[in-house]
Amino acid sequence: MIRLVPNHADRIRRTAEVTFHFDGTTLPGCEGETLIAALMRAGVLHLRNAPHDGAPRGGFCAMGLCQECMVRVDGQVVEACRVTVTPGLQVARL
Ligand code: FES
Repeated sequence: MIRLVPNHADRIRRTAEVTFHFDGTTLPGCEGETLIAALMRAGVLHLRNAPHDGAPRGGFCAMGLCQECMVRVDGQVVEACRVTVTPGLQVARL
């Protein structure tokens, strides 16, 4: 049985809003949240292309296990779920 609960989204206290860049687009994020969370809130789900067939790939586990969320951050290839948002972060799709 599923019990429906009230939506408490308006009670979430977020840190200061900052901006970062994804493939040349400026996006909002909250300082200290994971990059994958900020990207997903902005509607960015396609983070890289699969090497064997070019299929779009995006985050799956959001805890550093699957390697599906690899992006380039300030020139380094990293997992978007293991990086926190900071002002002016330069992020690119792989
Ligand atoms: S979403 Fe699985 S490692 Fe980042």
